[in-house]
Amino acid sequence: MSKELTGYLESQLKALKLKGVLAHYQEITQKAAQSNLSYIEYLSLLLEEEIRRKNEATVKTKVAKARFPFIKTLEEFDFSFQPSIREREIISLGALDFVEKKENIIFLGPPGVGKTHLSIALGIKACMAKYRVGFVTVQKLLEELLLSAKDGSLLDKLLGYSRLNLLIIDELGYMPVTKEQANLLFRLVSMRYEKGSIILTSNYNFDEWGEIFSDHVVAAAIIDRLVHHAHIFYINGTSYRLKGKLRASTETR
Ligand SMILES: Nc1ncnc2c1ncn2[C@@H]1O[C@H](COP(=O)(O)OP(=O)(O)OP(=O)(O)O)[C@@H](O)[C@H]1O
Ligand SMILES: [Mg+2]
Repeated sequence: MSKELTGYLESQLKALKLKGVLAHYQEITQKAAQSNLSYIEYLSLLLEEEIRRKNEATVKTKVAKARFPFIKTLEEFDFSFQPSIREREIISLGALDFVEKKENIIFLGPPGVGKTHLSIALGIKACMAKYRVGFVTVQKLLEELLLSAKDGSLLDKLLGYSRLNLLIIDELGYMPVTKEQANLLFRLVSMRYEKGSIILTSNYNFDEWGEIFSDHVVAAAIIDRLVHHAHIFYINGTSYRLKGKLRASTETR
């Protein structure tokens, strides 16, 4: 192919934003010539590259939009370190039926046992399956809801959150929640109830939520809606952050 012709072809591919074809047409053309591919087979190989690239770009956008604080996968999780977690159930949750059925997942347990890791890992799986996913800490969520209640944009904010297929709400319990904030959280949980999945993490068990919310009635109403269709994990192991460090400190004694 002449330089002029490839230059023209590349400008056409750029104009159509066919980046996958642009990146791979030369090797595919060579392969097609060597293997005597039919025109249809050749065209199909080119389009396969384009589809693959577009899928990758969509997943990348979904992951960026989800605003995960860090990226962790299920494959990176060491289940042998945390035997109280039902590995098979987590792996099967990775197939994402829970998102389709609008069920929730609740991870309860002390610091460092992998609550955020597992939430993010499932969130990434959901992004890969093209679901709309969002990650937010309770603190940020409540700050946002309170601000929007003050400036009159609360409904828009709640609607924005209810459009997500999966909302991950991290770290309930690290900060106290005022009565007003508890009511706002209740509105959010009610709006998503049976309409979209929530993954929630907390270092407190349900019977202690009344104290976090400074309102036992609202706490009970939130728990009721969250657990109605939920997979609940009580994790009671040691912190992964301390892995190796505890042994090191006893060895130096
Ligand atoms: N079983 C595990 N296998 C591999 N990495 C783990 C495991 N458990 C935790 N980690 C890692 O340890 C760190 C702490 O885990 P994570 O943030 O998920 O804890 P957490 O339960 O959310 O704690 P906190 O309540 O303090 O937020 C992360 O970097 C996470 O990837
Ligand atoms: Mg965490």
